[in-house]
Amino acid sequence: MSDGYRLVEDADLATRNTFGIAARAPLLVEVDDAAALPRLFATGIVDAADPALLVLGGGSNLLFAADAPGPVLALTACNVETARGDDGIVIARASAGVPWHDFVMHTLSLGLCGLENLALIPGTVGAAPIQNIGAYGVEVRERVHAVEVFERATGRVQRLGPGECGFAYRDSAFKRDPARWIVTAVEFALSHDKAPVLDYAGLRDELAAMDIAEPTAVQVAEAVIRIRRRKLPDPAVLGNAGSFFKNPIVPAARADALHAAHPALPVFRGEGDATRKLSAAWLIDACGWKGHRDGDAGVSAEHALVLVNHGHASGAQLLALARRIAASVQARFDIALEPEPRIVGAAW
Ligand code: EPU
Repeated sequence: MSDGYRLVEDADLATRNTFGIAARAPLLVEVDDAAALPRLFATGIVDAADPALLVLGGGSNLLFAADAPGPVLALTACNVETARGDDGIVIARASAGVPWHDFVMHTLSLGLCGLENLALIPGTVGAAPIQNIGAYGVEVRERVHAVEVFERATGRVQRLGPGECGFAYRDSAFKRDPARWIVTAVEFALSHDKAPVLDYAGLRDELAAMDIAEPTAVQVAEAVIRIRRRKLPDPAVLGNAGSFFKNPIVPAARADALHAAHPALPVFRGEGDATRKLSAAWLIDACGWKGHRDGDAGVSAEHALVLVNHGHASGAQLLALARRIAASVQARFDIALEPEPRIVGAAW
């Protein structure tokens, strides 16, 4: 403990993944302070370069299809600080272990705007840039000022600007190359007076139902929380990892053709002018999966994009269900779905 880390052998990971899957790790290392990482790796207990070393955040975007193949490392430091930046920007810096939603609410309590649309997303601050979390019209890449990382091969600590993070829809350089860095802290560029982002379908309606015409950032967060509570199962009650599939990005012409054949299919902006994003939830719903259950592995009855663990589903059972869902969408719409969570112990 005085070394800044704690070792647990043959660790139970069931409470460390929001699917609640009973997976184990040969060794769990809880690191209280990222500054202890060089010390930990110098002991040789854990090899920083070991590709089987898994860095765990809140476990909310992870499916254990098998036990962890190697040691698991969790960063637990929870420091938050703010500093004045240029042009009225306030830089809020949080260590990787801070629970994401607590951080969002803390910044709002300081009168800072920018993260309100991302309220109530499970997971930690350190995991947020890895999958470039996004909701209700905002992606975290739009708010990231810098990501502090520990490079596993060299032990170098680096501060990467948003342009160096390779961000894309639910993707980043960190996700594409998971063995390269450990995210130790993230800095966000926030401000005291930023116009709210209200364009996402349903957000204005929710605010209208709350009788709010010109919402503050706190009120936007409240509206987002109300929508999420209604639409998405609470992982503390029913195991899940949020959206299990990404919304597929397809050429605009393909989206137009599909939309002509299925006018109810929601089509969103893509990554540029030439692409569109399709609603995976709608495609899955149309194939009749909503509320489906194979034993304890199921699809949420509230949202077709969310796989749920009704009790004792294994990761392998959830993965088998996910593959059947993707195969049916492929057969009916000729669209390939890709999983959003990281799958440990199996290939998609
Ligand atoms: N829909 C259905 N059936 C359903 C659910 C939704 O047909 O069971 C259709 C509806 O027409 C709805 C549309 O899909 O209007 C979009 O649904 P929603 O607003 O819930 O958004 P989503 O595209 O399914 C994405 C993110 C969520 C995020 C919401 C809100 C992905 C993979 N998911 O879901 O993020 O909260 O938008 O911005 O991009 C997550 O990543 O884990 C996650 C929950």
